Amino acid sequence: MPINFNSPENRHSYLGREAQQEWFDLMQKLVDPCDKEIADIGCGGGIYSLAWQKMGAKKVTCVDFSPQMLSDAAENTQGLPNIVIKQGDALCTGLPDSSQDVIFERALIHHINQENRNTCFAEAYRLLRSGGVYILQDRTMQDIQLPGSPEHIRGYLFDVYPHLRNFENQRRPDKVEVIDGLQSVGFKQVKAFSLLEKYTVYKNFSQLASELLARKGRSILHELSDEEIAYLIKHIEKSLGNDTDIVEEDFWTVWIGVK
Ligand SMILES: C[S@@+](CC[C@H](N)C(=O)[O-])C[C@H]1O[C@@H](n2cnc3c(N)ncnc32)[C@H](O)[C@@H]1O
Repeated sequence: MPINFNSPENRHSYLGREAQQEWFDLMQKLVDPCDKEIADIGCGGGIYSLAWQKMGAKKVTCVDFSPQMLSDAAENTQGLPNIVIKQGDALCTGLPDSSQDVIFERALIHHINQENRNTCFAEAYRLLRSGGVYILQDRTMQDIQLPGSPEHIRGYLFDVYPHLRNFENQRRPDKVEVIDGLQSVGFKQVKAFSLLEKYTVYKNFSQLASELLARKGRSILHELSDEEIAYLIKHIEKSLGNDTDIVEEDFWTVWIGVK
C-alpha cells in the first residue's frame, strides 16, 4: 500500500536527521541563500527547511500537503522567527506569484504522477521572481542501481525483492525528461548534477533494524508487509556480517533552472 503521509503512524518519518555537509556544499555552489525567500515544497519534517534557515535565508516557507508532516516541520523549526508553515499542494500551492527567490523540492517529484510533473514545474515557475532559482533533488533509476553494501543499504531491498524495481521504475523521474519539462515551462540555464549524500550514521545494527521496521524515511517499505521487512532485516544483517560502522549514503540527481 502506498505511504499515507498523513497517517499519525508516519509521524517523524522525515525527522531526526540533519542535512549533511556535502548537501550544504552543493547548495552553496548553486545559489546564495543569504537574505533570500525560499519555499521548501514537500518539506516533510523540515530537515532541509532548517538547513536553508541556517544558511542565512531571510524567510523559509515550509509547504506540504500533509498536516501531519507540517506538524513535524513545526516541531523541528520551533521558535525560529523566519519560518512559515503553509499547507498546500505542490501543483497549486496558494502562495502568491513572484514571491520567492528559491524553490526547493527534495524527494518530492517521485510522489507526483508523471503526467502532473510539468504542472508542478510550472507552479514553481509562477512562484519565483525573475532570476529566481528552482532546485529539484530526487533519485533516478540510475541513482538507485548500486547493489547492497554497508554504504548502500537500499540496494539490499532489490536483492531480496527484485519486483520492487518495477515499482521504482514507474515512479522515478528520468533525468532528461525533467530537463525537458523544466525547459518546456520556461526555465533557462537548466542543468543536472550528481550528489552523493550521506543519509545517516547508525550507531549499531539494531538502530538500523528498528528504522527499517518502522519504515522510517523510506516510502518504498510501505509496499512490504511487516513479515517481508523482518526477512529483509535478516538478509541485511547476514550481508553486513560484523561490520558495525554503518554510514548510509545515497546518489541523487539535482536539477536547477532559472526563471
Ligand atoms: C519523501 S518525503 C520528503 C520530505 C523532505 N523533502 C525531505 O527530503 O526530507 C515527501 C514529502 O512530500 C510531500 N508531498 C507528496 N506529494 C505532495 C504534493 N503533491 N504536494 C505537497 N506535498 C507533497 C509528502 O507529504 C512528504 O512530506
